[in-house]
Amino acid sequence: MEEVEIEVSGSGDGEPDALALPLSEDDASPRSDDAQLGARLQQLADDGELKGELGKTTVLHTDGTSGARRVVVAGIGKRADVDADAIRTAAAAVARRLGDVGGTLAWKLDDSLPLSFDQQARAVVEGAVLGSYSPARWKTVEKPKKRIDKIVLYGGENGAAETARRAARVGKWVNWARDLANSPPNELTPEDLAARAAELAGGSLSVSALEPAQIDELGMGALSAVGRASANGPRLIVLRYEPAEAKSDVVLGLVGKAITFDAGGISLKPAGRMEDMKGDMAGGAGTLHGIGAIAALQLPVRAIAVLAAAENLPGGDAFRPGDILRAANGKTIEIINTDAEGRLVLADALWYARREGATHVLDLATLTGAMELALGDLYAGFFANDDEWRDRVAAAGERSGDLLWPFPMHERYRRYVDSTFADMKNGSTLRQGSPVLAAKFLEEFAGEGPWAHVDMAGPGFLERSRGDYYRVPGGTGYGVRLIAELARGLV
Ligand code: BES
Ligand code: MN
Ligand code: ZN
Repeated sequence: MEEVEIEVSGSGDGEPDALALPLSEDDASPRSDDAQLGARLQQLADDGELKGELGKTTVLHTDGTSGARRVVVAGIGKRADVDADAIRTAAAAVARRLGDVGGTLAWKLDDSLPLSFDQQARAVVEGAVLGSYSPARWKTVEKPKKRIDKIVLYGGENGAAETARRAARVGKWVNWARDLANSPPNELTPEDLAARAAELAGGSLSVSALEPAQIDELGMGALSAVGRASANGPRLIVLRYEPAEAKSDVVLGLVGKAITFDAGGISLKPAGRMEDMKGDMAGGAGTLHGIGAIAALQLPVRAIAVLAAAENLPGGDAFRPGDILRAANGKTIEIINTDAEGRLVLADALWYARREGATHVLDLATLTGAMELALGDLYAGFFANDDEWRDRVAAAGERSGDLLWPFPMHERYRRYVDSTFADMKNGSTLRQGSPVLAAKFLEEFAGEGPWAHVDMAGPGFLERSRGDYYRVPGGTGYGVRLIAELARGLV
């Protein structure tokens, strides 16, 4: 996957294929330093053809009267409401509009907005990169689409370049994670995912994967049981990032649910939209490419990623409701519902991350349908056992655009995962509060030290366009931006 090239320059430099001028709803026409262009834009505005509505674009061709071949007026909504998401959305709309021409896009940063040039530059790049993603990789009849391969930020001389380049790099990893989540489950088995992870090895990043026999040897009875019915056996995929110079003793532990297909097992899911359960490894994709982005940015913080990869199928060898499993930390789990498999595989992966020295843990999982019902496709819900860690994670979410909202972990929820026969059970006949019960379950495996659990069932994999800079259904790469931002804040 190509990384978009970034340049900053004074206004009007060069000959971009397109120049984007943001327009708010409070202004009649966009600001332009070019008098002739300004007059044409004013004319269009007088005719009522320019709209500052968020996501609207208007294209005009300059026919050689300006350095840019064409100008795209990009609506950004009400000026007072403009935030990074609005700029991302506008940039995504521009990128889509330019899908037939591609090339170099210049964007005029605007000093009248309530966002610094740095924030604008970052959002423009993120929006353009994420907004031009296509999920149609598996079509044999290709529609000719040209890519924006360079973004020039007009007016961004004061340090916006580094921020923009970082956004371009992280954006590439996000789109790549989307490819993984969109990959069909016949092409991306746990073994395939391990092979994809191995391709990232090099430099300060080392990669290994435990095979089914090794998973059993380590006593990971929960991961083993979930993966047992599939001919494509489970893997525990482990990546370690050792920077040349770590700036603290923190070892960031990233744990991902990587169910390459979730049929529900014996507690089989209904057929409707079951195909979306190829995206049940989106948390794993986020952690994999999150640590990939950390390594690509050479951040001075140690990190380890652990992906629990398995395929949850029914079958003659499948685990069943009523089974009692022993997890790697020794605790026993009564199975109520084989479709509550995410917390099982995470239980063993969390234990492993701690064993390998993780001091601060973040897990990402498409864990409960109820979380998607609660928060929809924008926010992930999250839980933490430590206030400071919770605040750090939430702040990184806000800055990165991978939004999350805190949920309670009150001790009184714990009794709903008590089992008559074992230490706990993996489901409850009560349907109330199921995301919280899942978190209380996971807490038993999170070990000592700060831990946060992100339930990204909503924003991880979209059923339809979100209408912002995620304009297509499927994987979003949720977690990659969050992890890169979190790791940057840890040094
Ligand atoms: N992968 C699903 C959760 C899910 C559902 C993610 C829809 C995205 C969209 C998970 O493994 C699951 O099946 N959870 C069950 C848990 C229940 C059986 C306690 C659920 O949420 O229904
Ligand atoms: Mn399930
Ligand atoms: Zn699942």
